[in-house]
Amino acid sequence: MCAAGIAVSERPCWTAPDHEFPVAERRRYDRRVPEATKPDYASLQLPAGPPGRPYVLTNMVMSADGRAVIEDTEHGLGSDIDQRLMRELRTLADVVLVGAGTLRASGASSRVRDADLERLRAARQQPPNPIAAVLSGSGDLPLDRAFFTADDFEAVVYLSPRATAERRQAIAANGRRVVTLDGDDDLASMLRHMRGELDAGVLLVEGGPSLNGELFARGLVDEYFLTLGSLVVGGGPTLTPVQGAQPPTSDSVTGLELMSAVRNPETSELYLRYRTRHRSAARP
Ligand SMILES: NC(=O)c1ccc[n+]([C@@H]2O[C@H](COP(=O)([O-])OP(=O)(O)OC[C@H]3O[C@@H](n4cnc5c(N)ncnc54)[C@H](OP(=O)(O)O)[C@@H]3O)[C@@H](O)[C@H]2O)c1
Repeated sequence: MCAAGIAVSERPCWTAPDHEFPVAERRRYDRRVPEATKPDYASLQLPAGPPGRPYVLTNMVMSADGRAVIEDTEHGLGSDIDQRLMRELRTLADVVLVGAGTLRASGASSRVRDADLERLRAARQQPPNPIAAVLSGSGDLPLDRAFFTADDFEAVVYLSPRATAERRQAIAANGRRVVTLDGDDDLASMLRHMRGELDAGVLLVEGGPSLNGELFARGLVDEYFLTLGSLVVGGGPTLTPVQGAQPPTSDSVTGLELMSAVRNPETSELYLRYRTRHRSAARP
């Protein structure tokens, strides 16, 4: 336990100040803050997911003013250490999922890109890289991106039934597995497929905000990993890490329990790990 009584799994935690610090007080406070550069996400022990779906992690990086994009991509929001943490979370995953908007804007892969992380996966009887997955309603996907052309990871395309037959065929001709979802229950049927057909125990969702918004709204996120970047983006309205189509209401709120918080004194980033407090009615 740390000062504010927050249980911590892998590192000592940081607690938010409830007042402004004078300099002397800040020095005392700084001594309380762990000087870890990063948490160790690669060795986290995760529980099994509920019946019928994997355990679901969501990972995002956000600016200090709550923005998830700069000029339509997440590039520039996080440091190399943030990227390293993303790959450590991939090490835990059987499947890494993005929404089609993220694939179109930034590309997508599931590579861990590190021999030590690959060895960790091998020790857990996992392939070097998790399966990559994308969810799309339109089927309008950039078939020239690494997600479709790479041969060092498997990939699956989840399509809603509203995608046209032409798009479905074009994607399938590319060689990646295409799974058509149940239109009335698309997210739950995708997670059932991952659990049942891909034998996925852990799903890592890497955004984007719209996909996150749907998963949170449905109570389908178990843990939320957030890097708080050391910059203010400014400008007009833009995407936040979790975005819905409708204005927020008290019904759209998901409670969180802080599991760990590590401050990186070199990058001034804060690495946060939360567990969600599920609304029982929202389980698939
Ligand atoms: N800060 C970060 O950590 C971070 C992380 C990831 C992405 N990003 C940024 O976020 C932006 C993209 O986010 P976004 O919110 O626009 O898009 P997104 O969440 O990546 O993808 C949304 C798309 O996913 C598909 N989709 C979502 N729910 C679906 C469902 N239930 N059934 C079928 N298809 C479904 C639809 O694809 P179709 O349009 O094909 O129908 C939808 O338009 C990019 O700028 C990216 O750089 C930031």
